[in-house]
Amino acid sequence: MTTATRHVAPAAQAPATRTFPQGFLWGTATAAYQIEGAAALDGRTPSIWDTYARTPGKVRNGDTGDIATDHYHRWREDVAIMADLGVGAYRFSIAWPRVQPTGRGPAVQKGLDFYRRLTDELLDKGIQPVATLYHWDLPQELEDAGGWPERATADRFAQYAALAADALGDRVHTWTTLNEPWCSAFLGYGSGVHAPGRTEPVAALRAAHHLNLAHGKAVQALRANLPAAAQVSVTLNIHHVRPLTTAEPDVDAARRIDALANRVFTGPMFEGAYPADLLRDTAHLTDWSFVRDGDTADIKQRLDFLGVNYYTPTLVSAAADGTHHGSDGHGRSDHSPWPGADNVAFHLPPGNTTAMGWAVDPTGMHDLLLRLSADLPGTPLVITENGAAFDDYVDPSGEVRDPDRIAYLHGHLTAVHQAIEAGVDVRGYFLWSLLDNFEWGYGYSKRFGTIYVDYPTGKRIPKASSRWYANLARTSTLTP
Ligand code: NOJ
Repeated sequence: MTTATRHVAPAAQAPATRTFPQGFLWGTATAAYQIEGAAALDGRTPSIWDTYARTPGKVRNGDTGDIATDHYHRWREDVAIMADLGVGAYRFSIAWPRVQPTGRGPAVQKGLDFYRRLTDELLDKGIQPVATLYHWDLPQELEDAGGWPERATADRFAQYAALAADALGDRVHTWTTLNEPWCSAFLGYGSGVHAPGRTEPVAALRAAHHLNLAHGKAVQALRANLPAAAQVSVTLNIHHVRPLTTAEPDVDAARRIDALANRVFTGPMFEGAYPADLLRDTAHLTDWSFVRDGDTADIKQRLDFLGVNYYTPTLVSAAADGTHHGSDGHGRSDHSPWPGADNVAFHLPPGNTTAMGWAVDPTGMHDLLLRLSADLPGTPLVITENGAAFDDYVDPSGEVRDPDRIAYLHGHLTAVHQAIEAGVDVRGYFLWSLLDNFEWGYGYSKRFGTIYVDYPTGKRIPKASSRWYANLARTSTLTP
């Protein structure tokens, strides 16, 4: 991964009808803590997000995932909604503290049964289950023992992966180890805007390494416990980093952020080594002696595809004084999620913004896919998340009209199609999200769903975008 800054403009084209390749997979995505609720049912123990959400001042409005969308009870209705959408796949996550409470020891059958019922129903409706093992809900007991900065957490994770594969491998054929480990490491242990809310730069780097190690060990555990045909992947939120100008200091700022955002994961996972410039940039903080002999060989495992989450590009420049990280789109904190990257300023890219304050820029999606295809030849790509939050509401006629979301999806899918035309091997697209849900530090204030959730009643109301997406999933064709 060497080309952080290449900008390849999509060719100017007249609006066209675009048909995706045969077999292109259309899906929707969610994550356990964001939708399930039932936080204390059937043996589930607290995760770091339960603890964090209960800490005053951490999550907007004091929201928690205690009830969320109550998917733990409404799963059958939610699968029926997916069947109506006509999607071919559903990406969900398994709650570690639900199937292996406290992160150690044997599996809890009731927890596994929930995922058995869910996946049986999906398969019955012809929807392929795509399971993520870790979407940020570390069992609190493992955090109490040190969390991701500790090496033992990687071993615990591999054991949990084996247990999940053993229990669900007969029905789940596509697996993802981690979702966005960047957020777990750098927002969780660097800026503290995610659980567990620690603000220790070196711990964030250690966490990144142990997440990499957890991934590598989990891939091995999955392969050992799954049929040979199973697909194994990881999902990264590769930042599409652009320098504000072509001046050398700005280009260098982009390189430094690219190392800390992207290559800290893709280096060991795909090339079997941490990038030399990353080690150099952080040498004043740590000598990286927590990386032991053999670790990078453990981390570099064959993957069947790379999951890519893309929402908005990242625009940076060199700054003269101190660290500026307030507008990097990852929440406000006095602490930087970029260890060692002082003197970098983040800028809001031009254009419209979503309710998250993120710029709408489909060229970022296009350029990112071209870059990944060039840097990781032979690795198929799947968009495992893309979507937008807007201030949706139910109008007096009972409708939720979300033209901005439709425009966002249309623009980004056009970019995906253009990348495919340019030769990039993109196999599928998962809309984030099926339902409005718990948006981490923002609680329920941000609505990403294509289905509106009325939280007081749990009622699901399809937004206009869900009809638009259903048509796309059915025809695989984007009309202008
Ligand atoms: C990335 C995360 O994986 C997901 O949990 C989150 O809700 C979306 N992006 C939107 O921020």
